[in-house]
This record gives sequence, structure tokens and C-alpha cells, in this order.
Amino acid sequence: MNLKEALKLADDLVFARTGKHLNDLQETILRGTWQDEDYKEIAKAINRSEHRVREVGMELWQILSQELGEKISKSNFRSAMERLQVSICSNLVQEESVQINSVNICGENLDRPSTVNLSYLDKETFNTKRAKILHQDLSEMPELGTFYDRIPELDTLTTWILQQRCRLIALTGISGIGKTTLAVQLVQKIKDEFEYVIWCSIDASPTLTEFQDKLIQFFSQSEKQDSPTTTQKTLPLIKYLQKYRCLVVLDDIHNLFSSGELAGKYKLGYEDYRSFFKQIEKLSHQSCFLLIGWEQPREVTKVKSQNTPIRTLQLTGLDTEAAREILRDYGLAEIDNYSALIHHYQGNPLWLKSVATLIQELGGGVTDLLPDDILLLPEDLKDALQQQCDRLSEIEKQVISLLAKESEPANLAKLIENGTMPASDLLNALHSLSRRCLIEQQGSFYNLPLVVKQYIQQFLRGS
Ligand SMILES: Nc1ncnc2c1ncn2[C@@H]1O[C@H](COP(=O)(O)OP(=O)(O)O)[C@@H](O)[C@H]1O
Ligand SMILES: [Mg+2]
Repeated sequence: MNLKEALKLADDLVFARTGKHLNDLQETILRGTWQDEDYKEIAKAINRSEHRVREVGMELWQILSQELGEKISKSNFRSAMERLQVSICSNLVQEESVQINSVNICGENLDRPSTVNLSYLDKETFNTKRAKILHQDLSEMPELGTFYDRIPELDTLTTWILQQRCRLIALTGISGIGKTTLAVQLVQKIKDEFEYVIWCSIDASPTLTEFQDKLIQFFSQSEKQDSPTTTQKTLPLIKYLQKYRCLVVLDDIHNLFSSGELAGKYKLGYEDYRSFFKQIEKLSHQSCFLLIGWEQPREVTKVKSQNTPIRTLQLTGLDTEAAREILRDYGLAEIDNYSALIHHYQGNPLWLKSVATLIQELGGGVTDLLPDDILLLPEDLKDALQQQCDRLSEIEKQVISLLAKESEPANLAKLIENGTMPASDLLNALHSLSRRCLIEQQGSFYNLPLVVKQYIQQFLRGS
């Protein structure tokens, strides 16, 4: 193995883990390591501090260790890459009959299999052949754009799906927070662990029958492709989920629920999804459903119990470093008050992109002119919030208006005193708003995120 091949392999592994390619400093460290240089020599050659080089090196070993499931360090990097190449080559030989050019690496030391694309081989042949074997229908899955961070969330979801074998996972969060993007990255990362993977967008609100028919067709057609001569009968959906290990992603699942009701009430004609999801939870099978949306079925609660195969991940904003990368991408690298901006927009990538575009278009310095508690609310940001707020029930609209008038987080007693609704209605509304991720709760105090608050205040002034 030469240095170029080792760098390519390391780059594939880092990309598979983080969605980003090696940067210049990381590459320099790998080059130096390959040539047996210590951190001091590497740092000297590029005129950087030894401390920084060591720090970046440690991060890199951690990423490679996580991706390969074995400890990688400066001292074993070279031997690990060489072992990996041997493992890849032997897999290639085994799979030669189908000319596959992406391989599963299942080395003895790995606690989980990983996948590396060897892009110097013919990608198109691979994709067609591989899709035939693994049966992936990702035609409705959006393309992944720039992707920052989310390593803890990816780890959590991967553990729930691959190790804990959860059958029903809800990924929830306010619009624009990055649910779909995270799920795309997750699918890219783990899809080869499943025999069947399908991404379904629920935009067109299919009835349960339509949805099941679509899945059954996907399974039965794939089976026919595998063994064209046998005449297999189509089976009920659950039988396929039992027979194969499948990953089914349902995006924008809020389209199954009624507007104008508390969160998670099925629309008329869609109630049979309730017993379907119950079946997915209760019956024994080896598949996983990932439900993504602003609202979740009421039967999928946020309370986590290790003994059930159900989990909920409520997505919050990006961390400051990742959010800053987004501002950088939009030409706001040197903005003074970037951390306040990220905090005010809660690290919501859609809001940050929207506001960064507006700041750019208004000529930069505009944020300095605004008082601290007044935020820019670009029209597209308001449109995104409106879509979610339009779905609120009357009682939720009253409660959210109450909260928008409070200058401090309000406790229950105060809300009951200020509101005109019975306490039980108020509690149900708070619960529903919290499931929609539109309010924040700290103990018994409730608050609106600043952006939501300002949006509702503008709305109340206008109405
Ligand atoms: N981790 C991330 N890194 C960079 N951009 C992101 C990230 N997550 C989301 N985005 C961007 O934010 C926007 C909203 O993301 P999306 O996944 O559509 O949100 P949601 O599905 O929660 O409404 C998109 O433009 C997406 O590219
Ligand atoms: Mg989405």
C-alpha cells in the first residue's frame, strides 16, 4: 500500500463518519504519520504549533477509531490501513462474480461492519449491482448538501437501530432544525446493514392501504428480480418485515395528522395507521421504521424506556462551531456577534441560512443597528413558522399567545391565572405545544423560543 492509497482510504473513512473530506492539516498529519514523523516534526514543517497539530491528530484518531470499531492511534495507523486494504481485497475477490466495487469490511477486530466506497473502481456498475443485492429504493430521499456535526445524534440513532434493534423511532423537532438532513446522513451511513431500505415521503398523505401496497410492491418485485423463475406469491407486509431486515423511513409524517387539533391526531380516514404502528412495535420482526416530522403519533411518547423497542429523538439546534460553519458558508465568517446570533436563532440551520442571506443582502452591518432583543425575521423564515403554526388548535393558539405576552418564563399557576381556559385544557395545550417543539420547558416554567415569540407577537399585532 502506498501513501496515496492510504490517504484515499482514510479520507473515505472520515467522510463516511463526518460527511466531510480530510482538510489540509489532517492530511498533513496523516502524511507525517505515514513517514514516521512525530508531532513536533510535522508541526515544524508546516509552521504550526505542536499543541494544535496534536489536538487535530487526536480528533482524527478518534474519528477513525469510531468508524472502524477498533482503536486507531498514531502508532498503529499504518498497520491498520494495511490490514484494512487486505480485508478489502479479499472481499473483492469473493465478490468478483458480481463485480462489486464497494465492499463491506468485516475484519475480525471490528465490532460492527463498516462500508468504504472505493471510488477508483467503476461506480455505476457498483450502484446497479449493489442496489440489486441490497434492494434500496432511495428515489424519494433528498440529496445531502453540506453537513456539519451531528456526531452525537448519529451515534445515538445508530446505537438504537443497529445495537438495540429498536423497531419504531421518532425523529422530531421544529421545522428547519435538520431532521431530514440528519436522516439522510444516517441512511447513507447504515444502509448496507439492511437487506431492504426504502425512503417514503408522506407529502402526498397516502392512505395506509396505498402505503402498504407501495411497500409490498417494492418487496415482491425485488424478490422476483432475485429469483425470476420461482413464482412467489405476494405476502402481507408484516411477513416481509419478519423475513428480511428492513429500514423504512417515513419523512414528513405530520401530513397524517389533522390541522386544528392537538398534535398527533390522525386525519379522518388515516386512523388505521395507529394500529399499524402498534403492530410494528408489538409484533416480532427484524425491521426498523424511522418516523420524521413536526408531529408524531400520540402512541410514540417522549418518555424513554429501555425495555420497549420505541425511541424518540427530539432534535435541537447545531452546536456553535457547526452553526458558525454555516455562517461562514454564507460569507459571515468574521461577524462580531456570531455567538449571539447563533444563540438567538437556536442553532436552527434553516433560520441561520435565512437570516444570513438577509444580512448579506442588506449589506452586512445591519445586525449592529438592531437592539439585542429584536431579531430579523426574514419572510421565508416566517413562512416556515406559519406552516407549523397554522396547524395549531384554537386552545394552543390561545396558550401560545399568552406565552408571547410574558417577558419571563411563566409557571403554570401564572398561566392559569392569566388564561381564560380550564386548567386541564391548558395542560393539554402545553403538552401538545411541547410535542410540536414550539415551547421550551424548564421544570414547571414555560417559555417561547425568541424567534417564535417575536413571530407570534408580530402576528398578534397584525390581527
Ligand atoms: N447538519 C447540518 N449541517 C449543515 N446544514 C444543515 C444541517 N442540517 C440541516 N441543514 C440545512 O438546514 C436546512 C433545513 O434542514 P432540513 O433537514 O430540511 O430540516 P427539517 O427536516 O428539520 O425541516 C437545509 O437547508 C439543510 O441543508
Ligand atoms: Mg424535513
